[in-house]
Amino acid sequence: MLLNLLNSLRTHFFTIAVTATLYFGWLHRDDNYLSAETGTGYLLGIVGGSLMLVLLLYPVSKRMTSLTRWIPIRYWFGVHMMLGVIGPLMILFHSNFHLGSTNSSVALICMLLVAGSGLVGRYIYTHIHHGLYGAQITLKELKLQTENNHTELLGMYAMDETLDIKLKKMEAKALQPYKGLAISLLHVISLALNAHSFNKAVINLLKDSYITNDNDKVMPDSKTVIDSVNRYTLALRQAAAFKVYEQLFSLWHILHLPLFFMMIITAIIHIFAVHMY
Ligand code: HEM
Repeated sequence: MLLNLLNSLRTHFFTIAVTATLYFGWLHRDDNYLSAETGTGYLLGIVGGSLMLVLLLYPVSKRMTSLTRWIPIRYWFGVHMMLGVIGPLMILFHSNFHLGSTNSSVALICMLLVAGSGLVGRYIYTHIHHGLYGAQITLKELKLQTENNHTELLGMYAMDETLDIKLKKMEAKALQPYKGLAISLLHVISLALNAHSFNKAVINLLKDSYITNDNDKVMPDSKTVIDSVNRYTLALRQAAAFKVYEQLFSLWHILHLPLFFMMIITAIIHIFAVHMY
């Protein structure tokens, strides 16, 4: 719990610091206080580029167990993500937030695409893993979670059979079979957009059960019930979205690697070009 809080604080602090630095650089982009060819500006190019080479130790460590013997893979991953932001940030200052010649523009755009794609990958990653550094989630696990929450709700309502049937109907509708990425993605988006009315629909079912049966049950508006309903609908939405996130992540991998190679090639061309002329 405390560790999660510390992690979240660290991420927020990092995000604010990076955003403020980006904003500062963008505001002063025409002040010419740095030059890409000499001094600090040149150094930022070398250090930023080198950091982007160091971050490759993560994909390497995934394939070479000798690297994970002393340093667990989650640390390599954390360093990868951190350097994936700091490296491009340094290159942005190296370029003074300007595109410049064709070779430097192409290299810069490729780098921004890779770093941006990394951020998208991070977002998808957290939906199919237990947080950033946890194990991979399975659909079985999510469905079991939904079943447990379902049983918890029923338990509060004296195992009302009608309620059970109605909840099962709702689940079948939310957990519809995978119908291809586009259709299933739309379904997941609509579930997320309608999360509030979904919660309300469940509360209304509980209200019906409360009115039609004996009153020794938990009030549908009590905090305990609302928390339980929130957990239930969240687990249901996560289970419904899982396959979509899995598919998105494999598509992301297919896109991320060619972008990365493009970045490497264009960076090499850029380095040669600037030192030749
Ligand atoms: C210029 C900067 C970056 C480069 C060159 C880069 C490069 C790579 C490479 C080569 C992979 C391995 C792909 C594979 O194993 O198939 C990877 C994976 C990944 N990167 Fe980056 N990346 C960068 C920035 C970022 C950033 C900023 C983030 C997020 C904050 C990030 C998040 C990820 C994630 C989530 C994975 C997938 C992890 C996995 O499947 O195990 N990357 N990156």
